[in-house]
This record gives sequence, C-alpha cells and structure tokens, in this order.
Amino acid sequence: MDRPLICLTLTGKTLLENLTLVNKYRSVIDVAELRADFLDDDERLLIRKFPLMAGLPCILTLRRVVDGGQFREGEAARTVLFARALSFAGEENAKTFDYVDFEEDFRVPSLQDVALAFGTKIIRSVHCMDGPVSNITERLRSLRTTSYEIPKIAFMPHSLSDVTKLFAEAEQMNDNNHILIAMGPLGAPSRILSAKLKNYLTFTSAPELASNVGNLAHFDPITLNETYHFKTIDRDTDVFGITGWPLNATSSPVLHNTAYRAHNMNAVYVPLRSEKIGDVFPLARQIGVKGFSVTIPHKESVLGYLDSVDEHVAEIGACNTVVEKDGSWYGYNTDWSGFKRSLLEFTGFKNLRGKRVAIIGAGGAAHAIAYAVKKLHGNACVFNRTLGKARALAEKFGFKYAPLGPDSVHLLKRYSDVIIQTTSKGMNASLPADESNDPIYFYEFSGKEKVFDIVYVPETTPVMARASQAGCKVCNGYEMLKYQGWEQFALFTGVEYNDYNE
Ligand code: ATR
Repeated sequence: MDRPLICLTLTGKTLLENLTLVNKYRSVIDVAELRADFLDDDERLLIRKFPLMAGLPCILTLRRVVDGGQFREGEAARTVLFARALSFAGEENAKTFDYVDFEEDFRVPSLQDVALAFGTKIIRSVHCMDGPVSNITERLRSLRTTSYEIPKIAFMPHSLSDVTKLFAEAEQMNDNNHILIAMGPLGAPSRILSAKLKNYLTFTSAPELASNVGNLAHFDPITLNETYHFKTIDRDTDVFGITGWPLNATSSPVLHNTAYRAHNMNAVYVPLRSEKIGDVFPLARQIGVKGFSVTIPHKESVLGYLDSVDEHVAEIGACNTVVEKDGSWYGYNTDWSGFKRSLLEFTGFKNLRGKRVAIIGAGGAAHAIAYAVKKLHGNACVFNRTLGKARALAEKFGFKYAPLGPDSVHLLKRYSDVIIQTTSKGMNASLPADESNDPIYFYEFSGKEKVFDIVYVPETTPVMARASQAGCKVCNGYEMLKYQGWEQFALFTGVEYNDYNE
C-alpha cells in the first residue's frame, strides 16, 4: 500500500501568493489544496488556471463557514464557482484539478458528472468542528457512493480518547482510500501517523499562513518531513512520544527523531497531548507505543498507572519516562540523572561531598534535583516562597529549609558553594535582574559561587547574568534537558545516544 501523500493547504488571498508557497515547499509536498474560500473575490474567477500554474496535483475546496471555512455566499454561488473551476478544462487548459472536495450534503449531479468526465476525484467530506464523530466505519461506507470518491472525516476531539477511537476504527479498514483526521493539538498523532490510519493523504500548512487555520493545528510540511520523517513512516514503524498538557513547546521530538534516523531505526516520536494522563495509556496500547516521555503536569499522577517503577522514581515521587515491556508499563526518572551529569560536568566535581548547596524552589523539578544532590552527598538547604513546600522537600532528604526572601540572606551565604535555581521566575525574562525576575535578588554574589539555573530560555537568565558579572561560573538547564533526553532514548531503544548535532 502506498504511503499517505503530503498535501499543502493553501489559504492565500491570491493565486500568486499560493503559487509562491507551492514553489517554496514543492520538494516536500505531493499535492496542493487550493482553499478557494480564502481567495479575494476577483481571484475566484481565475481558479481554473491554478492546476496548470502549480504543476502538481491539486484539490479544489470551497469550504463553508459551518464546516470551518470562509465561504459565506450561499450554495447557488458555490455551485457556480465549482462549475466554472471544473468545467473548462479543455485543450486550452491541459490540466484540471485532480480532486475536488464536496461535503457530504453537497450533491449536485451535474457537477459530479463534470468531475467524472474530467477524471477529477471527489473527496467526500464531513467536518465536525465541535466534537468527535462516532460510527466512523459506517459513515465512511455511506459517504463513498462511487468508486471515484475518497471519503474524508475530520473532527475536533474533546480528549485523547476520541483520537484513540479513530485509530481503533481505522484498524478495520483494508484500503487507503479514505482520510481520517482528528483536528487541533490533541489530534497530532492522526496527522503524523497517517500511515497507521491507512490515510490517503495528510494536510499541512505553510508557517506563513498557519494562523489562517490555527484551530486545525496543521504541521508545516518541512517539520513533518524533517523532524518526523513522515515519508518513512509505515504500519511497522515503532511509536514513541511525549505526553503533557498543554505541551506547547518541546524540543524532545527533534532530539529523539534525529537519533532514530542516525541509527536507521524505523521509529518515530510524536506529541501525545492529553489533559488526563489516564487517556494516554489506551492510545498507547491501541497504536503500540513502546515508550513515552512524561512532562508537566503528569509526572506525579502517572505513577498510579504504572506496573512497576525503579528505585529513583520511588524516592523522587515523580516519573518522566515510561517504557512498555511485555505488556507492562515501567517507570523511570531521567531528570535526576540528567541533572547529575550536567552538574558534575559544569562544576568539575566528582561529587558534592563537603559542599554546601542551596536549592532555590521546591516544585516538581526541585524534587529530582534534591534527590541528585543527596545521591552526590551534598549538604543542602531548600529555599522556597511557600515554606511548607520547602519543609516537605527538605525533610524528605534530611536537608535544611528556609523561606525565600531577604531574611534568609545569611543562610543562603552559608549554602552558597553551589546555588541551584529551580523556580520559573527567570523564565522568558529579557530585562536585567530585579525583584521580578531574579528569585535571589537580595543576595550579593561573592564571585566564588557556582550557579546552575535549570531554566534554558533565555540562555542567560537575569540571575545568571548578575552572577556572571560578579565572577561566578554559571550554567543553564540546556545540558540537563539534553542528557535526560539521551537517557530516555537509551531506555526506549537499548542504544546509547551520541551527539547527533540535531
Ligand atoms: P516545576 O515542576 O517546574 O518545578 P512547579 O512545581 O510549579 O514547577 O514549581 C514552581 C517553583 O517555582 C515553586 O518552588 C514555586 O514556589 P511556590 O512553591 O511558592 O509556588 C516557584 N515560583 C514560581 N513563581 C515564583 C515567584 N514569582 N517567586 C518565587 N518562587 C516562584
């Protein structure tokens, strides 16, 4: 069976604007969808020229508002536009649209005859913008009334369970003459794993116009090809992924997918966004996920779904790596070990014996860090805005604790061989250090402290800049993030990660 095609959805205002995008992405796409509902009025009169201009198979779509499109002029006007676009593909227009998208309820026999006469396939589509579609197998059957129709069902899932059902239904199908899509951020697996849904094609959008169809969460064709290696994904591809919510930005797919490619592994790593961690496991079972990374806010709640955890997870109380073995789910934590490796490289120390360490913050990340400090025999004090959380964390590992504020300045001075910043306070901050972006603004650096900030955006946080100016050695959280990912890769695949220059 053929791999799914990559279609570039074009939502420009003019044919020329769309053509520019086709040319830009030509090497990575197979088909272009002209969303004529986005065209300016006078451009709509020229639609039929587009396939020849584009020089690749084209889909013509005139989507109504009710189906998530921009076309507002009524069915009569739409019929006329379709007729003009499809019916003059004679000698002067050597090329016509290879496909036309007609919604389920748009049945105009004369247009269907025109499509048939010119060899234009009909994509017979159903869009449900506000919830899942049930009975997918049956709906597909009723949509396809002739052999030149490709049924398409696209819906907006409410949860990852709706996406799981889509994959379950696709299992029943024995050809790839259909298109099944779960839209929006939850639906990412249905776009990347189109081959597992036996889809005819997958839709993408150019980043230049992505905001026109923002609610659909299309991938851009370059990312789909280069990060996810879409063209090599088939039914046998091993699936790994990352779950979290809302999981807006993550560099993990690049890290893992680069390594699969370097090792010639038939594997892909995809975002498995879910508000509920419990919904991830049925999807993982359904599509055969062999392992996945876990991030905010599921690192603690995932524990209730695991069959077994290693000693580190048990002590930290959080898991960031789940691996499937013989039908059971095993939990690991590579946050602490990634941090440990990065800290030792940064400080040049073999361990933290005899060192006094300040841990700033007592959130999720601080737990893995406190555990690593303990394992390295450091003597630490936890400083946190909410004292109760500092106490709970400190007591777990036999450390001291204190409130995070000017009153603790002397204590901080005593625990200042290594200062580890784990709060989100300096995240995305671009201004010089002050009370609003530097959690230890009240502390004056001597220049001897080693300062490790687990934040990595920006590369240099305000507190790092201030420490550096005083002569301190500083390090951000990038290497920690990298090493925790490398260790996940090894747990997932049994192969050591090398530096692949992602
Ligand atoms: P993570 O899992 O990334 O560590 P978290 O569990 O929400 O995230 O923890 C965030 C940490 O940053 C906490 O220590 C939090 O302090 P509180 O426990 O008092 O909430 C700390 N933090 C966040 N914003 C802060 C701020 N403006 N000032 C000081 N500490 C802050």
